[in-house]
Amino acid sequence: MKQILKQLGINLTNSGASTGSNWLKSKGEEIQSFSPVDGKLIASVTSATSKEYHQVIKTAQTAFPIWRNIPAPKRGEIVRQIGEELRANKEELGKLVSWEMGKSLQEGLGEVQEMIDICDFAVGLSRQLHGLTMHSERTKHRMYEQWHPLGIVGIISAFNFPVAVWSWNAMLAWVCGDVCIWKPSEKTPLCAVACQNIASKIFANNNLPEGISNIIIGGPELGQLLSGDTKVPLVSATGSTRMGKAVGAAIGARLGRSLLELGGNNAIIITPDADLGIALVAAVFGAVGTAGQRCTSTRRLIIHESKYEAVKSKLKKAYGQLKIGDPLDQKNHVGPLIDKQAVKMYEAAIAEAKKTGGKILVEGGILKGKGYESGCYVKPCVIEAKNKMKIVQHETFAPILYIMKYKTIEEAVALQNGVVQGLSSSIMTTNMREAEAFLSTNGSDCGIANVNIGTSGAEIGGAFGGEKETGGGRESGSDAWKNYMRRQTNTINYGTDLPLAQGIVFNL
Ligand code: UN1
Repeated sequence: MKQILKQLGINLTNSGASTGSNWLKSKGEEIQSFSPVDGKLIASVTSATSKEYHQVIKTAQTAFPIWRNIPAPKRGEIVRQIGEELRANKEELGKLVSWEMGKSLQEGLGEVQEMIDICDFAVGLSRQLHGLTMHSERTKHRMYEQWHPLGIVGIISAFNFPVAVWSWNAMLAWVCGDVCIWKPSEKTPLCAVACQNIASKIFANNNLPEGISNIIIGGPELGQLLSGDTKVPLVSATGSTRMGKAVGAAIGARLGRSLLELGGNNAIIITPDADLGIALVAAVFGAVGTAGQRCTSTRRLIIHESKYEAVKSKLKKAYGQLKIGDPLDQKNHVGPLIDKQAVKMYEAAIAEAKKTGGKILVEGGILKGKGYESGCYVKPCVIEAKNKMKIVQHETFAPILYIMKYKTIEEAVALQNGVVQGLSSSIMTTNMREAEAFLSTNGSDCGIANVNIGTSGAEIGGAFGGEKETGGGRESGSDAWKNYMRRQTNTINYGTDLPLAQGIVFNL
């Protein structure tokens, strides 16, 4: 690990604020990053305070006019180089993600792959930031729209995807001509330091100024500063619905723009015509992958009554084969939760489910003994439950899967939609009528609706995000780039008269 930290430019104590290659002398509280893998201290970071925040804002403001005047395809070339640097550091960064956050090594590497993919996507996009042209109703007039950069983009990200979510935002924002200030989760500060070093190296190599890639590491007060700051036209925030409501309200109060990607409560519907082989792997990976700490994790299985008993016994068997332990050891399926606080929430959710009518199918519990010294390893658990139970309505970031029965497809869709969140959803069926009904206007109300694929593991090419309390934002692929730019409608008169729109006559 020492060698990896060194390669990624991480010291034993690190600053929590940077404008690029320049790490400021931050004076805030010390954040110690303990690995959930073995509970040991990896390194620490000194929080940024409001003083460093204002310093970072100032540098970002100076950098913006320089960066926005570089042609978009040339900005794309910089992002291409960042992608190359990520390729060169994939192994090390993936391991650090796994070590600091606790997800399996494969998932850690997968996360870095998502970063590389979004870089490639952004490079192509840098030549396609195009608007439409319209026909003017007036003669000798031309009308079109164009997209301009916004300015400073604030990025607030969560611990569960400590590197990829930043890249979905930053790479697009950069090709769009914006400069970024990243506030990563204080639970995974070292991953953020590593990313900042990777990006800053490329900006410096290309003789670009400080202030295009900025970072401030610390507590929620930094998120509040970003959300309330009129100098930050867009804040993209990923995290809990509670956090999103606070950020959204602060940004709304100043009529700024927000892009919110918040909680999910994702379900898979297993129909009578489901291919149970596919359904089972999708459900188990969705529920226990990343130890249930993805916003896209599968939290509910809605199973047709004719398949209920069969799915139950298959689930029991599959859960019995799960190996829990060191996420860097490839034979393990499930790593630890992020910290002991998460373990407490896991325990509390199971206790409440039991108290309010849930029936345990696969028992959970905290693992103790050799290899589990960090106290963060828990057993994935399955509970028979009712959708209306308060705890089932709540997103618990842990490997707890609630299962329930349905009779008709309408009932299944109503159960799937019957939660306050609206991120991801899935139906397992080989029946085309049911699949299409699920995707129709009367079907899933989520931002993501899949057929014969689980709820998690979205590709970067699609727009990512969800409805209702998930916040309504869309990140990464498709036309999500439009969030990071301002649209301008231009009408040009190349004639010798001034005809007014709507046929109005105004003679002087
Ligand atoms: C998240 O959990 O915040 O679709 C993002 C997925 C990943 C991203 C999850 N591509 O599961």
